[in-house]
Amino acid sequence: MDKVESAKKAAAFRAVDNHIKDAHRVGIGSGSTVVYAVERLAQRVHKEGLKVTCVPTSFQARQLIVNNNLILSDLEITPQLDVAIDGADEADNKLTLIKGGGGCQLQEKIVAAAANLFVVIADYRKNSRVLGEQWTKGVPIEVLPMAYRPVQMKIESKLGGKAILRQAKAKAGPVVTDNGNFVLDWVFDRTHDWQQVNQEIMMIPGVVETGLFVNMAKIAYFGMEDGTV
Ligand code: A5P
Repeated sequence: MDKVESAKKAAAFRAVDNHIKDAHRVGIGSGSTVVYAVERLAQRVHKEGLKVTCVPTSFQARQLIVNNNLILSDLEITPQLDVAIDGADEADNKLTLIKGGGGCQLQEKIVAAAANLFVVIADYRKNSRVLGEQWTKGVPIEVLPMAYRPVQMKIESKLGGKAILRQAKAKAGPVVTDNGNFVLDWVFDRTHDWQQVNQEIMMIPGVVETGLFVNMAKIAYFGMEDGTV
């Protein structure tokens, strides 16, 4: 396993070991790092007989839960969670996050907000002083398809930078999220007050959610290059 994958795994295993207890209701994030968290959760359920209920943040997360024989729930049945564990594209020194590199920001934010504790797991590449230092693909913004063009224009004129309609890789045309929406990747050209900018973007009609997670994460586990966490 290469250094980055080992770092993801180490962070995920540590977070699951430190925060998941019997009878916990757990939010399962999306992306490649969360795969290791679910692997560890399944090991602990099997070995320790933990009874854990899992709420997914995406179709991918749902499949991870099902394929690992964990108990699947949703926010209708389980509206309050003990812990949510998720990856991030970048975290600054206040644990402000950019999320949504995989297009799952909307459900990820809803699930994180339903949890008493939101734990971030990531490799060393995601650990930044300020947002934009490492992650150059911008802030994902989920928009209603019919509104993407005016939203794009408003973001660029009010906040600067570029809001790029994310294109699919294996199909012609834009990425469509699990919720049937488009994603604009807003590549900002300066550092902002992220709380204020998040509110400003959310006020634009047609914006469904942003990938800016401000004051949500309480703790982050970064797997480092030297194998430590
Ligand atoms: C999914 O849309 C994202 O928010 C992921 O949580 C984020 O991109 C981290 O993914 P990796 O664990 O693959 O880096």
